[in-house]
Amino acid sequence: MTSRECAALALSVTCATALFTAAPASTAPATAAPVVAPLGGDQGQTRARDPYFPLSGNQGYDVQHYDLGLDFTPASHELAAEATITARAERRLARFTLDYSGPPIQRITVDGREAAYRREGQKLTVVPAEALRPGRDFTVQVRYGGRPEPINDPALGLYGWINTDDGAVTLNEPDGARTWYPVNDDLRDKATYTFRITTPTGVTALANGEPQGRPRAGNGRTTATWTMAKPMASYLAMVAIGNFDVTRTQVDGIPNITAYDPAIPGDDSFLHSATAAAEQWGVTKFGRYPFDSMGGVIDPSDAGYALETQSRPVYDSPPDESAVVHESAHQWFGDSVTPTSWQDIWLNEGFATYAEWLWQEEHGGPSAQETFDGLYATPAGDPFWQLKTGDPGRDEMFNYDVVYLRGAMTLQELRSTIGDDAFFRLLREWNERYRYGNVGTCDLIRLAEEISHRDLQPLFQAWLYTAAKPAR
Ligand code: TRP
Ligand code: ZN
Repeated sequence: MTSRECAALALSVTCATALFTAAPASTAPATAAPVVAPLGGDQGQTRARDPYFPLSGNQGYDVQHYDLGLDFTPASHELAAEATITARAERRLARFTLDYSGPPIQRITVDGREAAYRREGQKLTVVPAEALRPGRDFTVQVRYGGRPEPINDPALGLYGWINTDDGAVTLNEPDGARTWYPVNDDLRDKATYTFRITTPTGVTALANGEPQGRPRAGNGRTTATWTMAKPMASYLAMVAIGNFDVTRTQVDGIPNITAYDPAIPGDDSFLHSATAAAEQWGVTKFGRYPFDSMGGVIDPSDAGYALETQSRPVYDSPPDESAVVHESAHQWFGDSVTPTSWQDIWLNEGFATYAEWLWQEEHGGPSAQETFDGLYATPAGDPFWQLKTGDPGRDEMFNYDVVYLRGAMTLQELRSTIGDDAFFRLLREWNERYRYGNVGTCDLIRLAEEISHRDLQPLFQAWLYTAAKPAR
């Protein structure tokens, strides 16, 4: 599923000019994209690429569903996999690309017929036996196997398929999905997922969404099937394999499924209760919970961060209350309502951080305004103010000061400008209007102006697109 486009321009927040429906190829940045592959005109890659990840994605087709059969052996960290991708051609495709950096491929078929393929860098080019006609639904099946490896990026850290002592866990943000399955890694191409995970019996496998029946055992191996029935961006796809104690309850009719590695000492029930509490609180602030289950997984790894994987965040160590509130808030802000471009990562992290401030305000801590005031005292010359929150640059997309804290400050400044009534209506309307879709900053500005009847361009210009401390 590809959502409508919105482009928030980096240097100007003039929404009117930002509102085009299909970004022309000429918006590709000057710094862009080495040429992907010596391909002809039928490969699909024509529309705007992500400025921070210009190699990723292909807009020539639209994925509906990924069915990922993953057979994994923790002792050897060997994966044998079959990915079945259901998609629709948006134009004639004599060939098309997927993003893929995983282990060797054995065979690819398109609609059951053997297809030629070529790997170059992160792109996998598939040449079907016959060109695909526009509007046509097609199925790509890729068989592959070996030992997947994570990406270790100097700026973005360790991500993708991460092996653990007792299994593996996937943390894909931002472009790590390609380390373990062939994917159209474009934020706009959300899809539903089925995970069929086979392991030695006794090993536990979790993923996004809900289990389909009980795991099926035979020949010393067990297959667990999980489905994510709501649209999901590929950076949120999660598999966790290992030794886990699993807790399952219902919260207002929604399954809450959490998993805890029993090797970790300490309280194993906090994640479960805190997740339920954060979800129930989130519903009162942000509106209806967007997915069919909730939960979390605590799986020790070398990642060094938690990730808001859809419906079931992953924590690399036992989280505190703020961390659970943060990852839970991402289910509304980031997972359901997803940026169109990584440049707008503040729409994820600013809102999730602001949710922590709101939670504190309502649970005996400082008010969000007090938290804001403390940070606003940072001197103008401090590196805190140096980059643009609305365009931090690829290497600084997870900069805590610039994206998380100044992103949350932007929202507090908006709240104090338009008032609580308009602000909390905005939080709910944002989720209602853009549920399961993609957004840009211009969508937020437009909605905030619509609700408040004010000109908010100067506020957002100062707080998002100026690399300096805003005057108040
Ligand atoms: N998006 C994650 C969160 O805030 C954090 C995250 C993902 C991250 N990848 C990262 C933080 C790399 C630092 C470095 O929940
Ligand atoms: Zn976050």
